[in-house]
Amino acid sequence: MWKKVIAVLLGLILGYWFLDDFDPDHLKGKRVLITGASTGIGEQIAYHYAAFGAKLMITSRRENVLQEVISNCRERGAKDGEYYYVTADMANMSSTEQVIKEAVKKLGGLDILVLNHIVIMPLGEWRGTPQNLTTLEQVTDINYKAYIHLTSHALSELEKNKGSIIVVNSLAGKVAIPFVAAYSASKFALDGFFSALRQEFKMRNCDISITSCIMGLIGTENAVSQLAQFGQDYLLSVMNQARPSDAALAIIKGGATRSREIFFPYMSVRSSYLLRDWLPETIEYVIRYINTPSHYI
Ligand SMILES: *[C@@H]1O[C@H](CO)[C@@H](O)[C@H](O)[C@H]1NC(C)=O
Ligand SMILES: *[C@@H]1O[C@H](CO)[C@@H](O)[C@H](O)[C@H]1NC(C)=O
Repeated sequence: MWKKVIAVLLGLILGYWFLDDFDPDHLKGKRVLITGASTGIGEQIAYHYAAFGAKLMITSRRENVLQEVISNCRERGAKDGEYYYVTADMANMSSTEQVIKEAVKKLGGLDILVLNHIVIMPLGEWRGTPQNLTTLEQVTDINYKAYIHLTSHALSELEKNKGSIIVVNSLAGKVAIPFVAAYSASKFALDGFFSALRQEFKMRNCDISITSCIMGLIGTENAVSQLAQFGQDYLLSVMNQARPSDAALAIIKGGATRSREIFFPYMSVRSSYLLRDWLPETIEYVIRYINTPSHYI
């Protein structure tokens, strides 16, 4: 009896894994737009897609860095692969439309939209100063509104192709993190918007998948230097920081399998998120504790 039950359970688990399996061949020839692709996770996302045979349009503000990423893509993927770039500032809503138009024109359509860019801002306490309010404007425009504008301009193209939207989010979009209040809020906002949009898609039988990627601490150059500037680099030795390249691969797999949500690194991010609902004060205490430098120095 028990043996049968265990066999059935094992079969279900293995079956689930099998169904969930990622087939890189499906990405061959896919037309992908990646924002914030000049450094960090976005750059690594471009390299993996290139290696899987996708066609790419990458964007960020700095042309010379984008050119470098493109030439690295040629090494990782096909020498004559279709890799394009367009420079754009995501604080400018008209350029979000330009970027989508340019991607559709160069790639001949769009299958996957990877929303990944963020504005780099210093960590700090929220004191309600004019400087803080200026930061709020930038963060709201770049981290939140630009995602919705890009999605809106790409909607008809994605719907036609039964495409995918991949939203790179953060644990800070599920559990509030001190010293990044505006950032945390923009990430919560993305979670709210795209969760509602996903529901609308299902209600009107629109076959666009939305994958929300809840990322923990990833050891990108920007993350490391931001923490160092704020005297929080001790966190890097206390907490496991995942490699940007591994994070990028998890994001691509999540999108390719049309998952609604992925967590990376799974255990640390998933457990914090579960604790948020079960034991909010405990997780808040832990977060305060690890964000207090004097506990380590
Ligand atoms: C915003 O983008 C548009 C279209 O790309 C461009 O014409 C305009 O000059 C940009 N505005 C600013 C303030 O950079
Ligand atoms: C808020 O403003 C104060 C004073 O200008 C600054 O020290 C602090 O770092 C700012 N916080 C953020 C999150 O920008």
